[in-house]
Amino acid sequence: MERIYFDNAATTPLDKAVLDTMLPYMTDKFGNPSSIYSYGRESRLGIESARKSVAKILNAHPGEIFFTSGGTESSNTAINAAVRDLGCRHIISSPIEHHATLHTVEHVHCRDEVKLSWVKLLPDGHVDMDDLRRLLSESKERCLVSLMHANNEIGNLLDLHAVGNLCKEFDAIFHSDTVQTVGHYPFDLRNTPVHFINGAGHKFHGPKGVGILYINENVKITPYVQGGSQERNMRAGTENLYGIVGFAKALELATQHYEEHSRYINELRLYMAQQLEASIPGVTFNGDLHGRSLYTVLNVSFPKSEKSEMLLFNLDINGICASGGSACTSGADAGSHVIRAINNDPNKVAVRFSFSRDNTREEVDKVVEKLKELI
Ligand SMILES: Cc1ncc(COP(=O)(O)O)c(C=O)c1O
Repeated sequence: MERIYFDNAATTPLDKAVLDTMLPYMTDKFGNPSSIYSYGRESRLGIESARKSVAKILNAHPGEIFFTSGGTESSNTAINAAVRDLGCRHIISSPIEHHATLHTVEHVHCRDEVKLSWVKLLPDGHVDMDDLRRLLSESKERCLVSLMHANNEIGNLLDLHAVGNLCKEFDAIFHSDTVQTVGHYPFDLRNTPVHFINGAGHKFHGPKGVGILYINENVKITPYVQGGSQERNMRAGTENLYGIVGFAKALELATQHYEEHSRYINELRLYMAQQLEASIPGVTFNGDLHGRSLYTVLNVSFPKSEKSEMLLFNLDINGICASGGSACTSGADAGSHVIRAINNDPNKVAVRFSFSRDNTREEVDKVVEKLKELI
């Protein structure tokens, strides 16, 4: 059966050109990057060239880019470091963060007895900036603000500059989970008031299990994995050489084709929204569809019926891959903490469709036809 993949916010297929760049580092160029002879130097060059390229694209210094295993590790590291090394005793976050952030701030809150506050959200899911200001101004302790750049379920985009400037005003540390935007939008980190951001290669046609943590040069944290001098003593262990090289190549390609791909994907997403509205009575959209939103994500609420309760399951039977939220809740719907937090309507079933440049209008038409049958 032909499959239609509309779950690109969960992960994307590896680009063939990225694979071609990685392959030599899995075969001939296998040296340990820490070895001093030629094999090692070749691998080291691969890593440091990748770091330079990533830094240039994000307009950061190479010394601010650390390679990690992905978005989760990077967020864990930033949040833990802010508390352990930077004196943050009060964390401000939102209830619609990815679990990589939510579970980490809750863990740190319990372990270190750090205060934890949730910022209010507006009905469309955006952060209530007045409430954020209130929380910061009333705090007696140094704050860590951890708010994601783009929500992976509903697509809402945060104004990094507005939040960053507010954090500056109150001497707070600002971490933003940018996993859904690195490789999808241009970044200018030298001119963005943020201390930590992250990225994951598999969200933009790169390899899985590799990501970055950006640490602003003015922030000094202590090593987070002990046992070796890799990543400038910060993260010990032999590097994921081919992953790192693949991450950089995927980011280069994504940046090269940003204009063309973002326009194409956004048109596809709006086309699907329009087709659904025209053909299924009662559909609504979660988040800020026509406003500040990711161009890759369309989160749809369908009227609940006996049939639609099993919607994801039935879509899967028909070869259509979509999800109920983040990848870990995409099975027989456990429900989404994000939808619950913004507009929990028990008479609706929410499904996230997320697109890449590989998707087509024909696929959208097929999915809409199938949805008409299934609702
Ligand atoms: C917003 C967001 N943050 C963090 C992650 C975790 O990234 P990774 O799976 O690479 O650790 C994801 C992906 O699932 C995500 O969408």
